[in-house]
Amino acid sequence: MEISLEGKVALVTGVGPNIGSGIALALSKYGAKVACNDVSESAIKACIARIERNGGEAMAAPGDVTDEAAVQGYIGDVLKRWGRIDILVNNAALLGGKGLLDESAADFERAVRVSSLGYFLNTKHVGRAMAERAIKGSIVCISSSNGWSGTAGIIAYAFHKGGVNNFVRAAAMDLAPYGIRVNTFTPTAPNPDNPELLAERAKAGLGPGGVLTTGRPGGGLGGPTGDEPWRRPSRWTGQRAPMVPMGTTGTPTDIGHAVAWLCSDYARLITGTDLVVDGGARAKNFAYSPAEPADLAGPLPLIVLDETPPQ
Ligand SMILES: NC(=O)c1ccc[n+]([C@@H]2O[C@H](COP(=O)([O-])OP(=O)(O)OC[C@H]3O[C@@H](n4cnc5c(N)ncnc54)[C@H](O)[C@@H]3O)[C@@H](O)[C@H]2O)c1
Repeated sequence: MEISLEGKVALVTGVGPNIGSGIALALSKYGAKVACNDVSESAIKACIARIERNGGEAMAAPGDVTDEAAVQGYIGDVLKRWGRIDILVNNAALLGGKGLLDESAADFERAVRVSSLGYFLNTKHVGRAMAERAIKGSIVCISSSNGWSGTAGIIAYAFHKGGVNNFVRAAAMDLAPYGIRVNTFTPTAPNPDNPELLAERAKAGLGPGGVLTTGRPGGGLGGPTGDEPWRRPSRWTGQRAPMVPMGTTGTPTDIGHAVAWLCSDYARLITGTDLVVDGGARAKNFAYSPAEPADLAGPLPLIVLDETPPQ
């Protein structure tokens, strides 16, 4: 028995080079045709090129996920070209931000808007397209570990990722009568493995990274805070204990394998729930630190999907 998405059409929003591109490539490698959405033309082009050089078929679905006319426009284009949509992955979001004491109303509103309106509009219009055609599809909304527990320094992100988790449960109820499934997938700061992204980071003198921000200014997790005398540090700054029981939170390719399975017919009764690939990080008790990664057996080797030679 092999997992196959052969004959299915997928739409992935926010196909930037990290997680969105990893999911889009995986869906393609498992057999789906993939429509690639982003506000960035270069992100779409790079994702399509990555899919095509790995033997898949892809099309551009450009547009802002918060603009209803644009959303209906690119969904219409996919239906015109391929006649159906079986899989939607809501992935576009703004990362980063600031903590409660420093976040601005405008940045808070924009981050919540992209996530809430983007996930709602795409789920609504793809859901309608599926229901009208009696397609028993799968919709995956990308959440975050920050949607399930608290992190200092990212108040807007925490708000909208928490919202995604219950949006999915309610959307799953609305779409259950049609056989359409809606679930969250929770990434946990995966280690980028797109060869192009790694090469770009190396050129800029950066390491492989774990948490990237391309969304908006203000820094990554935990934006800068002021230097007034009353300020308190929001985070531990000493030597960090190992945090992940299996030693790694994996890569976008690990996410892609799991999302592809969640969109396959094997998962036909899985709806309104969450799938997480995190090496046990979320299950960990707060009072326990795992052993050093170097002392662990580690996971099985990664089943690689991108055949691009390292650059
Ligand atoms: N990177 C992580 O460590 C991490 C961890 C947990 C969850 N996540 C989630 O995974 C998803 C992808 O994360 P990433 O690290 O690849 O992010 P990223 O910032 O690299 O990519 C997001 C993409 O969304 C696009 N986008 C932003 N606003 C848009 C809009 N209005 N319309 C269309 N496209 C838009 C951006 O242009 C970008 O290409 C997000 O939902 C993020 O919250 C990421």
